[in-house]
Amino acid sequence: MEIRFQDVRKIFQGRSGRVTALDGVDLRVGEGEFVCLVGPSGCGKSTLCNMLAGFDTPTSGSVTLDGELVAGPSISRAMMFQEPALFPWMNVRDNLSFGLKSLKLPAAERRATAERFLKMVHLSQFADAQPHELSGGMKQRVALARALAVDPVRAADGRAVRRAGCPDTRPPAR
Ligand SMILES: Nc1ncnc2c1ncn2[C@@H]1O[C@H](COP(=O)(O)OP(=O)(O)OP(=O)(O)O)[C@@H](O)[C@H]1O
Ligand SMILES: [Mg+2]
Repeated sequence: MEIRFQDVRKIFQGRSGRVTALDGVDLRVGEGEFVCLVGPSGCGKSTLCNMLAGFDTPTSGSVTLDGELVAGPSISRAMMFQEPALFPWMNVRDNLSFGLKSLKLPAAERRATAERFLKMVHLSQFADAQPHELSGGMKQRVALARALAVDPVRAADGRAVRRAGCPDTRPPAR
């Protein structure tokens, strides 16, 4: 899988005027590469991630995944947000299972996957807790488990998922 940002520019029209969040960004991330973006607060890291996730679009330039323009969110690109962004009305188990529902896994497999990832982040005992009952770090662990549980890399291997950017397509069997 190859991620490419080509001459990406992002301008926000905020209440306090125009902000150029990104300008002239060229970035290539190859298969299996692990990349960290480091920079001062406000330099555009989250803006860049949001565009890769498909939550926002560049003002100019392009963001592509294996040559295909990122046109919106997809199960093949999981995002762990800066804020945990948990659904406050759902318990921990349901928050974690949210993405799994769109994969249309059988209920038993969905439950087993959710339990496995809850265990991985040491939160099995908090499966029925609401987000407001968790510490900041525990919320982040639920968010991490939610992002990993959908197995985005495998999902990206499903050609139909990639082509359609379709969150309703089941990834290949494990
Ligand atoms: N929705 C928005 N509307 C207006 N301006 C925005 C919006 N989102 C981000 N910005 C501006 O774009 C710039 C980059 O913001 P961004 O959130 O990408 O920074 P960051 O590098 O992630 O910072 P931090 O390390 O503090 O999280 C900032 O000046 C911010 O005020
Ligand atoms: Mg940020």
